[in-house]
Amino acid sequence: MTSVLLVGCGKMGGALLAGWRKSQAASRFVVVEPTAAAVAHLKGAADVTIVDALQDAPADFQPDAIVMAVKPQSMAEVAPPYAGLAGTAVTLSIAAGTPIAFFEAAFGPSAAIVRAMPNTPAAIGRGMSVLCANAAATADQRALSQTLMQAAGAVDWIEDESLMDAVTALSGSGPAYVFHLIEAMTAAGVALGLTPELAAKSAMETVAGAGALAREAPEDPGTLRKNVTSPGGTTAAALGVLMAPDGLTALMTKAMTAARDRGRELAKG
Ligand SMILES: NC(=O)c1ccc[n+]([C@@H]2O[C@H](COP(=O)([O-])OP(=O)(O)OC[C@H]3O[C@@H](n4cnc5c(N)ncnc54)[C@H](OP(=O)(O)O)[C@@H]3O)[C@@H](O)[C@H]2O)c1
Repeated sequence: MTSVLLVGCGKMGGALLAGWRKSQAASRFVVVEPTAAAVAHLKGAADVTIVDALQDAPADFQPDAIVMAVKPQSMAEVAPPYAGLAGTAVTLSIAAGTPIAFFEAAFGPSAAIVRAMPNTPAAIGRGMSVLCANAAATADQRALSQTLMQAAGAVDWIEDESLMDAVTALSGSGPAYVFHLIEAMTAAGVALGLTPELAAKSAMETVAGAGALAREAPEDPGTLRKNVTSPGGTTAAALGVLMAPDGLTALMTKAMTAARDRGRELAKG
């Protein structure tokens, strides 16, 4: 019987909880959430206890995992009361930019901490989360953290926490790049004479369809690209622009470097 204490049931916490209940990743949940509207839909659920604050949680409740899903800026105020439970449970934090060291300082150096960086498609179970654990996390606690984050989509691990800023620059901020790609293709389609409606629909479906194909096909993206590029044809003409030395790879590297560097700056405070 796995039990989970969820602290913060907003957009991300709520999406995770829905995924855990659907996949039966745990059998008992206590949710600390002061905003009644955020948890109204959970009233009466046999496997979920909702409380306003930790002191209202059932006295016998000993979670296997404490999932911290409040805003990073409220973490310093929210986290300290959980120190008593963090000795035996793994603390799984999804707070962007909050380092493992923050929780080690709040809960003690022997507390097991896993830091996860999910992204917004987690809300529909199609996220990408990258996890990093401290030395105190056991193999079982890492496995439980992985199971919990898999409810939100794909999961992978890094061992070096300093790479979290690069992770944030790729998968964390990445959905916004793809949304912008849809906007850019729409604007270019309109510039070539298509109606805004047709351009928007075509850009959206092309990005979604190509993403799904890239995910499902056995070929890698480079092979899929070559398969639709006849020499001297229309796709080749466009790729000649996009794949020029100052093309999309150079631009994306510049953009992601800016994101990575901003993450480092924010971490310094
Ligand atoms: N949304 C994303 O796509 C995304 C992606 C990656 C990482 N994250 C991380 O996920 C975390 C949550 O983000 P979110 O978008 O889900 O934010 P959110 O919707 O604001 O959810 C946070 C929830 O925690 C509640 N809360 C505030 N104080 C609390 C307390 N003392 N105890 C328990 N709950 C409390 C908030 O209630 P009030 O509204 O009343 O304050 C709110 O319902 C953040 O740390 C963020 O960095 C989010």
